[in-house]
Amino acid sequence: MNINKLFSLKGKTILVSGGAGLYGKCIVEGLAEAGGTIIIASRNLAKVVETANQFRNQGYDIYAMQVDQGDHTSVLNLKAEIIKQFGRLDVFINNAVARPMKGYNEPIEHFAESMHINATGSMDILREMCGLIEDSGGGSVINIASMMGMHGPDLSNYDGTDMGWPPPDYFFHRAGLINLTRYLAKIFAGKNIRVNCVSPGGLFNYQPKQFVENYCKKVPVGRMANTDDIKGLMVLLASEAGAYINGQNILMDGGMHA
Ligand SMILES: NC(=O)c1ccc[n+]([C@@H]2O[C@H](COP(=O)([O-])OP(=O)(O)OC[C@H]3O[C@@H](n4cnc5c(N)ncnc54)[C@H](O)[C@@H]3O)[C@@H](O)[C@H]2O)c1
Repeated sequence: MNINKLFSLKGKTILVSGGAGLYGKCIVEGLAEAGGTIIIASRNLAKVVETANQFRNQGYDIYAMQVDQGDHTSVLNLKAEIIKQFGRLDVFINNAVARPMKGYNEPIEHFAESMHINATGSMDILREMCGLIEDSGGGSVINIASMMGMHGPDLSNYDGTDMGWPPPDYFFHRAGLINLTRYLAKIFAGKNIRVNCVSPGGLFNYQPKQFVENYCKKVPVGRMANTDDIKGLMVLLASEAGAYINGQNILMDGGMHA
Protein backbone atom coordinates (compact mmCIF):
# COMPACT_ATOMS: atom_id res chain seq x y z
CA MET A 1 0.00 0.00 0.00
CA ASN A 2 1.18 3.54 -0.74
CA ILE A 3 2.79 5.17 2.30
CA ASN A 4 0.37 8.14 2.35
CA LYS A 5 -2.55 5.72 2.30
CA LEU A 6 -0.98 3.66 5.10
CA PHE A 7 -0.81 6.73 7.35
CA SER A 8 -4.22 8.13 6.37
CA LEU A 9 -7.02 8.17 8.94
CA LYS A 10 -9.72 9.10 6.41
CA GLY A 11 -12.98 7.31 7.17
CA LYS A 12 -11.90 6.37 10.70
CA THR A 13 -14.02 7.35 13.72
CA ILE A 14 -11.74 8.08 16.66
CA LEU A 15 -12.57 8.74 20.31
CA VAL A 16 -10.09 10.76 22.40
CA SER A 17 -10.98 10.85 26.11
CA GLY A 18 -9.73 13.97 27.89
CA GLY A 19 -9.34 15.50 24.44
CA ALA A 20 -9.57 19.09 25.71
CA GLY A 21 -6.60 18.66 28.07
CA LEU A 22 -2.91 19.46 27.52
CA TYR A 23 -1.76 16.35 25.64
CA GLY A 24 -5.34 15.67 24.50
CA LYS A 25 -5.44 18.76 22.25
CA CYS A 26 -2.12 17.79 20.60
CA ILE A 27 -3.41 14.25 20.01
CA VAL A 28 -6.71 15.51 18.56
CA GLU A 29 -4.89 17.91 16.24
CA GLY A 30 -2.55 15.22 14.88
CA LEU A 31 -5.33 12.69 14.27
CA ALA A 32 -7.56 15.32 12.64
CA GLU A 33 -4.75 16.52 10.38
CA ALA A 34 -4.34 12.90 9.22
CA GLY A 35 -8.00 12.92 8.11
CA GLY A 36 -9.78 11.23 11.04
CA THR A 37 -13.25 12.02 12.36
CA ILE A 38 -12.63 12.80 16.02
CA ILE A 39 -14.93 12.66 19.02
CA ILE A 40 -13.49 14.36 22.10
CA ALA A 41 -15.06 13.46 25.41
CA SER A 42 -14.53 14.45 29.01
CA ARG A 43 -16.42 15.47 32.13
CA ASN A 44 -16.73 19.15 31.32
CA LEU A 45 -19.01 19.35 28.27
CA ALA A 46 -18.66 23.15 27.90
CA LYS A 47 -14.88 22.76 27.64
CA VAL A 48 -14.98 19.96 25.06
CA VAL A 49 -17.57 21.87 23.00
CA GLU A 50 -15.30 24.94 23.06
CA THR A 51 -12.27 22.85 21.99
CA ALA A 52 -14.26 21.06 19.28
CA ASN A 53 -15.50 24.41 17.93
CA GLN A 54 -11.96 25.78 17.76
CA PHE A 55 -10.86 22.78 15.66
CA ARG A 56 -14.00 22.86 13.50
CA ASN A 57 -13.26 26.51 12.69
CA GLN A 58 -9.94 25.29 11.28
CA GLY A 59 -11.83 22.87 9.02
CA TYR A 60 -11.43 19.63 10.99
CA ASP A 61 -14.12 17.00 11.54
CA ILE A 62 -14.49 17.14 15.34
CA TYR A 63 -17.39 16.40 17.69
CA ALA A 64 -17.82 16.88 21.45
CA MET A 65 -19.44 14.48 23.91
CA GLN A 66 -19.67 14.25 27.69
CA VAL A 67 -18.32 11.38 29.80
CA ASP A 68 -17.29 10.81 33.39
CA GLN A 69 -15.24 7.63 33.27
CA GLY A 70 -15.71 7.24 37.02
CA ASP A 71 -19.44 6.66 36.41
CA HIS A 72 -20.45 3.44 34.62
CA THR A 73 -23.79 4.86 33.43
CA SER A 74 -22.01 7.82 31.91
CA VAL A 75 -19.61 5.48 30.06
CA LEU A 76 -22.58 3.47 28.70
CA ASN A 77 -24.30 6.71 27.64
CA LEU A 78 -21.20 7.77 25.72
CA LYS A 79 -21.09 4.40 23.96
CA ALA A 80 -24.79 4.68 23.04
CA GLU A 81 -24.29 8.23 21.74
CA ILE A 82 -21.35 7.16 19.55
CA ILE A 83 -23.45 4.31 18.10
CA LYS A 84 -26.37 6.70 17.53
CA GLN A 85 -24.32 9.41 15.80
CA PHE A 86 -21.62 7.39 14.01
CA GLY A 87 -22.69 3.73 14.08
CA ARG A 88 -19.11 2.59 14.75
CA LEU A 89 -15.77 3.20 16.46
CA ASP A 90 -12.38 2.43 14.88
CA VAL A 91 -9.87 3.93 17.32
CA PHE A 92 -9.91 4.78 21.04
CA ILE A 93 -7.24 6.99 22.62
CA ASN A 94 -7.51 6.41 26.37
CA ASN A 95 -5.98 9.72 27.44
CA ALA A 96 -8.11 11.12 30.31
CA VAL A 97 -6.55 11.42 33.73
CA ALA A 98 -7.81 12.88 37.02
CA ARG A 99 -5.37 14.29 39.55
CA PRO A 100 -7.18 14.31 42.92
CA MET A 101 -3.96 13.65 44.85
CA LYS A 102 -1.39 16.44 44.98
CA GLY A 103 1.37 15.05 47.22
CA TYR A 104 2.69 12.10 49.26
CA ASN A 105 1.06 12.98 52.60
CA GLU A 106 -2.53 13.54 51.49
CA PRO A 107 -5.50 11.60 52.94
CA ILE A 108 -5.74 8.05 51.62
CA GLU A 109 -9.26 8.87 50.36
CA HIS A 110 -7.62 10.97 47.65
CA PHE A 111 -5.64 7.91 46.58
CA ALA A 112 -8.89 5.89 46.51
CA GLU A 113 -10.64 8.55 44.41
CA SER A 114 -7.75 8.49 41.98
CA MET A 115 -7.97 4.69 41.66
CA HIS A 116 -11.74 4.92 41.14
CA ILE A 117 -11.26 7.14 38.06
CA ASN A 118 -7.79 6.28 36.80
CA ALA A 119 -7.77 2.51 37.42
CA THR A 120 -11.38 1.25 37.66
CA GLY A 121 -12.79 3.98 35.39
CA SER A 122 -10.02 3.53 32.86
CA MET A 123 -10.71 -0.23 32.73
CA ASP A 124 -14.45 0.44 32.40
CA ILE A 125 -14.17 2.81 29.43
CA LEU A 126 -11.53 0.56 27.81
CA ARG A 127 -13.75 -2.52 28.05
CA GLU A 128 -16.80 -0.71 26.64
CA MET A 129 -14.91 0.96 23.79
CA CYS A 130 -12.96 -2.22 22.92
CA GLY A 131 -16.35 -3.96 22.67
CA LEU A 132 -17.60 -1.27 20.31
CA ILE A 133 -14.45 -1.46 18.18
CA GLU A 134 -14.85 -5.26 18.02
CA ASP A 135 -18.48 -4.83 16.90
CA SER A 136 -17.19 -2.42 14.21
CA GLY A 137 -14.86 -5.08 12.78
CA GLY A 138 -11.64 -4.17 14.62
CA GLY A 139 -9.28 -1.23 15.03
CA SER A 140 -6.68 0.28 17.33
CA VAL A 141 -6.57 1.25 21.01
CA ILE A 142 -3.86 3.55 22.38
CA ASN A 143 -3.38 4.07 26.09
CA ILE A 144 -1.57 7.22 27.15
CA ALA A 145 0.47 6.43 30.26
CA SER A 146 3.66 8.25 31.30
CA MET A 147 7.40 7.81 31.74
CA MET A 148 6.42 8.08 35.42
CA GLY A 149 4.71 4.68 35.03
CA MET A 150 8.07 3.19 34.04
CA HIS A 151 10.53 4.91 36.40
CA GLY A 152 10.60 6.32 39.91
CA PRO A 153 10.55 10.11 40.27
CA ASP A 154 13.75 12.04 39.77
CA LEU A 155 13.35 14.27 42.82
CA SER A 156 16.27 16.49 41.84
CA ASN A 157 14.04 17.93 39.09
CA TYR A 158 12.17 19.74 41.88
CA ASP A 159 15.27 21.22 43.56
CA GLY A 160 14.93 24.96 44.07
CA THR A 161 11.17 24.98 43.29
CA ASP A 162 8.10 24.99 45.54
CA MET A 163 6.38 22.29 43.45
CA GLY A 164 6.67 19.55 46.09
CA TRP A 165 7.11 15.91 45.19
CA PRO A 166 4.84 14.25 42.66
CA PRO A 167 1.94 12.22 44.14
CA PRO A 168 2.20 8.40 44.47
CA ASP A 169 -1.15 7.50 42.87
CA TYR A 170 0.10 8.68 39.48
CA PHE A 171 3.06 6.26 39.56
CA PHE A 172 0.69 3.43 40.53
CA HIS A 173 -2.02 3.85 37.88
CA ARG A 174 0.29 4.82 34.99
CA ALA A 175 2.36 1.66 35.61
CA GLY A 176 -0.84 -0.43 35.77
CA LEU A 177 -2.05 0.98 32.47
CA ILE A 178 1.18 -0.08 30.75
CA ASN A 179 0.72 -3.72 31.76
CA LEU A 180 -3.05 -3.63 31.14
CA THR A 181 -2.07 -2.75 27.55
CA ARG A 182 -0.20 -6.06 27.22
CA TYR A 183 -3.12 -7.95 28.80
CA LEU A 184 -5.66 -6.43 26.39
CA ALA A 185 -3.44 -7.06 23.35
CA LYS A 186 -3.50 -10.77 24.25
CA ILE A 187 -7.23 -10.82 25.11
CA PHE A 188 -8.08 -9.36 21.69
CA ALA A 189 -5.82 -11.70 19.74
CA GLY A 190 -7.56 -12.82 16.57
CA LYS A 191 -10.18 -10.08 16.84
CA ASN A 192 -8.35 -7.50 14.71
CA ILE A 193 -7.83 -5.09 17.63
CA ARG A 194 -4.34 -3.84 18.39
CA VAL A 195 -3.67 -2.33 21.82
CA ASN A 196 -0.58 -0.18 22.42
CA CYS A 197 0.61 2.34 24.95
CA VAL A 198 2.57 5.59 24.67
CA SER A 199 4.48 6.82 27.72
CA PRO A 200 5.36 10.47 27.21
CA GLY A 201 7.72 12.70 29.12
CA GLY A 202 6.74 16.12 30.47
CA LEU A 203 5.00 18.51 28.05
CA PHE A 204 6.25 22.08 28.34
CA ASN A 205 3.47 24.11 29.95
CA TYR A 206 5.24 27.14 31.44
CA GLN A 207 6.36 25.17 34.51
CA PRO A 208 8.61 27.09 36.96
CA LYS A 209 11.88 28.15 35.29
CA GLN A 210 14.05 26.24 37.76
CA PHE A 211 12.13 23.00 37.15
CA VAL A 212 12.44 23.35 33.37
CA GLU A 213 16.18 24.00 33.74
CA ASN A 214 16.70 20.99 36.06
CA TYR A 215 14.64 18.75 33.77
CA CYS A 216 16.13 19.76 30.43
CA LYS A 217 19.70 19.13 31.64
CA LYS A 218 18.80 15.40 31.77
CA VAL A 219 17.20 15.15 28.33
CA PRO A 220 19.59 14.38 25.45
CA VAL A 221 17.26 16.25 23.09
CA GLY A 222 17.72 19.23 25.45
CA ARG A 223 14.11 20.27 26.00
CA MET A 224 10.70 19.24 27.35
CA ALA A 225 8.16 17.75 24.93
CA ASN A 226 6.40 20.23 22.64
CA THR A 227 2.88 20.13 21.20
CA ASP A 228 3.98 18.39 17.97
CA ASP A 229 6.00 15.57 19.53
CA ILE A 230 3.17 13.12 20.21
CA LYS A 231 1.31 13.61 16.91
CA GLY A 232 3.39 11.27 14.72
CA LEU A 233 3.23 8.36 17.16
CA MET A 234 -0.54 8.72 17.45
CA VAL A 235 -1.04 8.61 13.67
CA LEU A 236 1.37 5.67 13.32
CA LEU A 237 -0.38 3.57 15.96
CA ALA A 238 -3.92 4.55 14.92
CA SER A 239 -3.40 3.90 11.19
CA GLU A 240 -2.60 0.92 8.98
CA ALA A 241 1.05 2.06 9.08
CA GLY A 242 1.18 0.51 12.57
CA ALA A 243 -0.65 -2.70 11.64
CA TYR A 244 2.15 -4.96 12.97
CA ILE A 245 2.78 -3.05 16.21
CA ASN A 246 0.80 -4.59 19.05
CA GLY A 247 1.04 -4.89 22.84
CA GLN A 248 3.86 -2.34 23.00
CA ASN A 249 4.68 0.52 25.33
CA ILE A 250 6.61 3.28 23.54
CA LEU A 251 8.61 5.65 25.73
CA MET A 252 8.65 9.18 24.28
CA ASP A 253 10.96 11.12 26.59
CA GLY A 254 13.59 12.71 24.36
CA GLY A 255 16.10 10.09 25.55
CA MET A 256 15.88 11.02 29.24
CA HIS A 257 15.90 7.36 30.28
CA ALA A 258 18.15 6.02 27.53
N1 LIG B 1 1.12 16.74 30.83
C1 LIG B 1 2.22 16.01 30.86
O1 LIG B 1 3.34 16.55 30.94
C2 LIG B 1 2.15 14.52 30.75
C3 LIG B 1 3.36 13.81 30.80
C4 LIG B 1 3.31 12.42 30.64
C5 LIG B 1 2.12 11.78 30.46
N2 LIG B 1 0.96 12.50 30.43
C6 LIG B 1 -0.28 11.73 30.21
O2 LIG B 1 -1.06 12.38 29.23
C7 LIG B 1 -2.44 12.13 29.48
C8 LIG B 1 -3.18 13.43 29.54
O3 LIG B 1 -2.62 14.21 30.57
P1 LIG B 1 -2.67 15.81 30.57
O4 LIG B 1 -1.47 16.29 31.28
O5 LIG B 1 -2.97 16.28 29.19
O6 LIG B 1 -3.91 16.02 31.54
P2 LIG B 1 -4.95 17.21 31.66
O7 LIG B 1 -5.23 17.33 33.11
O8 LIG B 1 -4.50 18.43 30.91
O9 LIG B 1 -6.21 16.61 30.92
C9 LIG B 1 -6.86 15.49 31.43
C10 LIG B 1 -8.24 15.39 30.81
O10 LIG B 1 -8.92 14.29 31.42
C11 LIG B 1 -10.23 14.69 31.73
N3 LIG B 1 -10.78 13.91 32.86
C12 LIG B 1 -10.40 13.95 34.16
N4 LIG B 1 -11.19 13.14 34.89
C13 LIG B 1 -12.08 12.58 34.03
C14 LIG B 1 -13.17 11.67 34.17
N5 LIG B 1 -13.53 11.20 35.38
N6 LIG B 1 -13.87 11.32 33.08
C15 LIG B 1 -13.54 11.80 31.86
N7 LIG B 1 -12.53 12.69 31.65
C16 LIG B 1 -11.82 13.07 32.73
C17 LIG B 1 -10.12 16.17 32.08
O11 LIG B 1 -11.37 16.80 31.95
C18 LIG B 1 -9.11 16.64 31.04
O12 LIG B 1 -9.75 16.93 29.81
C19 LIG B 1 -2.50 11.32 30.77
O13 LIG B 1 -2.59 9.97 30.45
C20 LIG B 1 -1.17 11.62 31.44
O14 LIG B 1 -0.76 10.59 32.28
C21 LIG B 1 0.94 13.83 30.59
